Amino acid sequence: MSTPTPQAVPGATPKREMWSTRKVFILAAIGSAVGLGNIWRFPYVAYENGGGAFIIPYLVALLTAGIPLLFLDYAVGHRHRGSAPLAYRRLARGAEGLGWWQVAICFIICVYYAVIIAWAAMYMIFSVTEAWGDDPAGFFIGSFLQVSEDVNIGFDFVPMVLIPLIIVWAVVLLVLAAGVQKGIGRANIIFLPLLLVMFLILVVQSLFLPGAADGLNALFTPDWGALTNTTVWAAAYGQIFFSLSVAFGIMVTYASYLKHKTDLTGSGFVVGFANSGFEILAGIGVFAAVGFMAFSSGAEVGDVAAGGIGLAFIAFPTIISEAPLGGLLGVLFFGSLVFAGFTSLISIIEVIIAAVQDKLGMSRVKTTWCVGIPLALISILLFPTTTGLNLLDVTDAFVNNFGIMACALVTVLLVTYGFRKLPLLGGHVSEVSSIKLGLWWRIMVGIVSPIVLGYILISEVIKRIQEGYGDPPMPDWFVNVFGWGMAGGLVVVAFLLSLIPWGRNSAANDPELDSPTLQEAQR
Ligand code: ALA
Repeated sequence: MSTPTPQAVPGATPKREMWSTRKVFILAAIGSAVGLGNIWRFPYVAYENGGGAFIIPYLVALLTAGIPLLFLDYAVGHRHRGSAPLAYRRLARGAEGLGWWQVAICFIICVYYAVIIAWAAMYMIFSVTEAWGDDPAGFFIGSFLQVSEDVNIGFDFVPMVLIPLIIVWAVVLLVLAAGVQKGIGRANIIFLPLLLVMFLILVVQSLFLPGAADGLNALFTPDWGALTNTTVWAAAYGQIFFSLSVAFGIMVTYASYLKHKTDLTGSGFVVGFANSGFEILAGIGVFAAVGFMAFSSGAEVGDVAAGGIGLAFIAFPTIISEAPLGGLLGVLFFGSLVFAGFTSLISIIEVIIAAVQDKLGMSRVKTTWCVGIPLALISILLFPTTTGLNLLDVTDAFVNNFGIMACALVTVLLVTYGFRKLPLLGGHVSEVSSIKLGLWWRIMVGIVSPIVLGYILISEVIKRIQEGYGDPPMPDWFVNVFGWGMAGGLVVVAFLLSLIPWGRNSAANDPELDSPTLQEAQR
């Protein structure tokens, strides 16, 4: 293969944007990782899966899969300096589809993730007046979301969700249009410290509530028997993947904006431990508050601890109504959800924008609007409706279990055994980093991760086929279309997108960017 001639193509893509410093990258990566998954998902997942004993599978998952895969993402993005499809294309011939699969996953996640931020923003306002009165569950389902009994797709809009959702999309797209450093970097520099301060105040306030200790006991009392239960291990790995933002293109994209000489492993450990630290802090804050709820209603913690959406939007309002300075607690809790979710949403949409920008060679501003407006319209048409809740529930469950997990499994298998690139990628990270990636990393990525991911995936598929989805189970057609169909459709779409040729102006043809690795991929 001849060396591409390093000459400027007329009208070619502008120079690749960069983070101004490694600190900004670390902040943005923590901003992406710390999201809705940390604040309300972690506490109830930990509680339901062995309490204090869950910390063991959780840490094992972090060290054996989370951090090793984070380094894999960094290596691909940093060495090949591209959005997910471009970086994988440069890594190996035929690998581009993996990048598009990750882009497709982000497409699904961002359209519903924005909706939860919109709910949280409204609940921040509702906290001041305790708008839910004495029936938070009835208010959330009946008055706020106006959920229809029909499991279907409809276009009966709910203005109380529609309006904040439009605002969320407008703000996030304005940030993204401003660019990597000026938009994403600055947003994280502002929102992340704010989030930390708000959340710390929330945790302290929760710890002073009567009954807080009972909540913490319930969360941290270890059920050692849980360690022999494979579902618990699956939950730990699932939590780590979503929460660390690995295997869906985010860290590939963010690492591509780093300067060449950057300590990748040092940064990765900071991000990984900051994310887990925040998660455990969230567990403490939320369960202290749940302990208070049990105390004030005279019930057991186990009876009042709800999972998922119920914990944030039904249990928390109850706590807010009863706690001293409850309004403050509400503003802090829902404000934290908004800020944490917002910096994660930015990163999810950036994966799509960067991919389209690289492929079409358009300017950042033009790409942001060309990609962002259709995305916003899909989100706005499908979710702030009386039927949006079921759709959100199914897409969230399936894109996590059969999107991110399946994509992670296929990626580690192909990169290790198909393209045989682990030594090359590990070598790159070691060359620029303080902590070197040796055999242990290759064992974690190439052997431990595929075994664990394969096991989790197969058992989840069997469980879903046998039990259906939902409680009570949702209609088959709905789960088949928006669950299985969507997850399978992502692979088809990724494959089709990888067939579209890269234009003259695309970043793939920008010789300035990465000619040595381009040559390598073509060999
Ligand atoms: N990592 C992000 C979260 O935890 C997506 O919500």
